[in-house]
This record gives sequence, structure tokens and C-alpha cells, in this order.
Amino acid sequence: MQLVHLHSTGRLENMLGSSLCRILRRRPLKVTRCQVQEFTTSPQKIAISKVKEAGLLHSKALIGGKWLGANDGRTLPVHSPATGEVLVEVPYMGEVETNSAINEASKAFAGWRALTGSERSKLLRNWYDLLIANKEHLGHLITLEQGKPLTEALGEVVYGSNFVEFFAEEAKRIYGDIIPAPFSDRRIVVLKQPVGVVGAITPWNFPLAMITRKVAAAFAAGCTAVVKPSELTPLTALAAAELACQAGIPPGVLNVVMGDAPRIGDALMASNEVRKITFTGSTAVGKKLMAGAAGTVKKLSLELGGNAPCIIFDDADIDVAVKGTLASKFRNSGQTCVSVNRIFVQAGIYDKFSDAFATAVKSLEVGNGLHKGVAQGPLINEAAVEKVERHLEDALSKGAKVLLGGKKHSLGSTFYEPTVLTDTSTDMIIFREEVFGPVAPLIKFKTEEDVIQMANDTLFGLAAYFFTQNLSRAWRVAEALEFGMVGINEGIISTEVAPFGGVKQSGLGREGSKYGIDEYLEVKYLCMGSIKSF
Ligand code: SIN
Repeated sequence: MQLVHLHSTGRLENMLGSSLCRILRRRPLKVTRCQVQEFTTSPQKIAISKVKEAGLLHSKALIGGKWLGANDGRTLPVHSPATGEVLVEVPYMGEVETNSAINEASKAFAGWRALTGSERSKLLRNWYDLLIANKEHLGHLITLEQGKPLTEALGEVVYGSNFVEFFAEEAKRIYGDIIPAPFSDRRIVVLKQPVGVVGAITPWNFPLAMITRKVAAAFAAGCTAVVKPSELTPLTALAAAELACQAGIPPGVLNVVMGDAPRIGDALMASNEVRKITFTGSTAVGKKLMAGAAGTVKKLSLELGGNAPCIIFDDADIDVAVKGTLASKFRNSGQTCVSVNRIFVQAGIYDKFSDAFATAVKSLEVGNGLHKGVAQGPLINEAAVEKVERHLEDALSKGAKVLLGGKKHSLGSTFYEPTVLTDTSTDMIIFREEVFGPVAPLIKFKTEEDVIQMANDTLFGLAAYFFTQNLSRAWRVAEALEFGMVGINEGIISTEVAPFGGVKQSGLGREGSKYGIDEYLEVKYLCMGSIKSF
């Protein structure tokens, strides 16, 4: 039912953007290749000036309700991944500014937690309304600084805003417990209280949604926050913060600092005021944060790397399998933690699937995300392209064959051709580490037992996908896969109502859904004694 609902209410467009969605629905797509000369600065400039006119282009950080530069005046350029242009300069902050943001968040905490759930709910709802009212501007900002196609960026605005709406509702439902006591003169009550100041460290691949997924839950619980967005994509964070101010969220409840990531991270970790760190990003950084949290014994939520298997069984509906795999692999040009990374195809369906899949991949138009019809934007920077190249080189040296793509795109140094590899094997780097790019490696398998063993043979456990029409197999495989989230005949599983998170080295805790708010709450037990009975 839920999956049907996703499609029927247009949520698939929200997640993927209409270009990719159009391909998935197999309507004919007129493919026009992007011209290099289209990459003038004008679409960027027009988009930036519209965002500026709307008052959403900030070049200062937000601390205690004030827009401030770095103490020493240093700045950091934010580039368009599509053209390399500098969009705007933002403050390059460090420890001092982070400590002052923590201080403001601490001061605001008492007042914010004292509001009723329904008062916090109304302010969150105002924020949601403003985010949605400014969908076009925020979408343009995401495409400008992150690169994803505009339709996908607009989808992210809706996805990200939905967390604010969802947690606005949850703010009113933070229930405790009454536990029957083992003694007649005692009563046992359990309260849920906000953990305190939260440090939220967010990535560049979803410049809005990864912030709202964290802070909306934190705010609903009564916590205040210091957010450190990625230095690559701070502009959407600042625009969202501007809208939070307009919504009436009090000064100091939301603070946004950026600049020297290690120094900001260290200040957040060292502070006794910061009681919780929530992070989305690499497993390597997550491990450092985990070690760093020991010094002050902070609560942690970590949403780290994945290595998602996608299994196509012989009994799969091939159209459904192609659509689902394409959606998961090529969303955000493969730059999501839940992107399919290893595609296992059963021998009996291998040729049919690989042909149909390569045909679908071929129809993805590559270009500047601001251009109409584009389904694949640039990768975030040249380092991301170099990583893809390293994975390809390794795979080809170990016997993989290129069915489609396989090299940098002629559009520029941040573009990579949507790629399909065959004859891949489990000894290749691409099967061990997430490629975080538009490369789909196919591997043939024989039996269900073999493929479950191969799928689970990874240090990571975020998302997994499989396609089958056999109900018993669906249960069996879903239960056997060691992953926090499993898509069955579905490639897009993210939604604000479901718990997002992984097992093994993919992280700790869950975001979104009714479970997400628990990450920002402490359980307090009250024991009332000497109760006289009749
Ligand atoms: C991520 O890549 O970390 C988030 C993806 C999602 O929310 O779907």
C-alpha cells in the first residue's frame, strides 16, 4: 500500500525529479545532447539573482539570531559544480565562532524546552509552510551549489520539508510512561526530556534534507542546535535558517556555522554543553566522532557509508527491476548513501536484464542541472570524478567490461558518463567500497544462498534492494539481509515516515519516523515513595 501511495501522490517525482521519473515510466524521452557552449554563466547568474531578490542568499553565518562573518574576516568560496564559477563567499569560521554558537544554543535551550509541544509544533509548521512557499528558490540554490538536476532538487525541497511537517506533529506526542511498581507505596513514572544542545554535521549530497531530518526532530524534542553544513553546500542551509527565523523560531535555537571543518568538529566534540552529535557522512569521519565523543560521553547518531546490494532474481518482473535499479543507482548521479552499489543478476535473466538496463541508462541526459530535461548533473567536484576513475581502472584491470559509458563526459571535468559494467567480480574495489558516482556494476549469480552470502559480505549495512515475485522468497531474503533498510521490488525507499539508518559500520540510530525523535530525548525515571493507601 505504502509503495502504491508513494507513486500515486507524486512522491516519486519528489524524490527523483520528473526527468528521471519520466524515464522510469517509459514515456518516450526526446534526447538532446547538451552543447558545451550552453555552459555560459548566464543560467547561474539568473538563478542566483532570483534567490537574492527573495532574500535567501546569505553570505554570513547565523549565531544567536545574528548574521555574522568570521572573527578574522576570512571567507570561503562556494563553487557551482557544473561550471566551476564562484557563487558566493561564506565565512571561514573555526573554534571561537563555534563556541559562541554553542553558547547561544545553550542560552536558548531553557526557553525552548519550556514551550509546550504544541507551541513548538506551531513554529515548526510555520517553518514548513515557508520552506514549501520558497520551493523554487531553494530548489535553484540546491542545483546551483550541489549540481543535481533542478527537478530532483525541487523533489529534495519537498522531501526535506516533509521532515519539518512530520516532526511538527510529533512534537505534541512525546509520551512518557507509568510503570506498575513492585511496592504498594511507590509509583514509577517515566518522563522524556530533551537531551540539550545538539551538534549537527551534515553532508553536501542533500543540502536541505539532511539538515531538516536532524534538526526538525531535535527542535520537536525541545533541543537547540548548532549546524555545520558541508563547506561545499552551505547556501541552502543558510536559506533554510533565514526561513526558520522568519517562522518565529527564537534566536539561538538554530545556529549555523561553517568553515574549518576539523576545528568546528573539535569544538563541538570538546564542549560539555553539546550533549548530542548527529552526523551524516563517511564511515572514516564517523569513527573519529565516535572516538571524540568519549571525552564528554555524548549521545551519537551516525548515518555513515553504505555498499548497497541490489539482487535481481530470475522470477523478477523485469520492467519493475529495471526501473527500481535505475532509480536507486542514478538518483543524484549515484551520490547517495543508499545508492545501489553492487547489482547481482541471476543467470537466467542476466542477458535480458543487462540489455534492458543499459537501454534505460543510455536515455539519461547528462548536463547542467539548471537545463530542462537533464537527468544526470555533474558530480560534486573533480575529486569525486577521480574516485570513480580509480574504481573503473581497478575493475577493468581485473576483467570487467564496459557495456556503456566508462569515461569522463565531454561536458567538463566534473561530469562522468552514466556507466554500466559487466563481468565484474567480488575482488574489485567497486564491490567493497561505495563508488558514489554513476557506475552500475553487474555480477552474475546462480543461487539464492550464494547471493545472500555475497550481499552480506561487506562491512556496511545501510540499504539493500531485491526484486522477486515470489512471496516466500521475499520474506526469506528480507530477513536474511544484514541491512537496516530493504527495498523489495522498490528502488526508492526514503520517506519521512520510515526509520532511516543502518547496521554494522553504516552507523547508529535512526532518522525520520516516530523512532527519529527518540535520538533527541533522554528517559528520566521518577520514583515516588511513601504513598499511603486507604
Ligand atoms: C544519504 O545519502 O545520506 C541520504 C539519502 C536519502 O535520504 O535518501
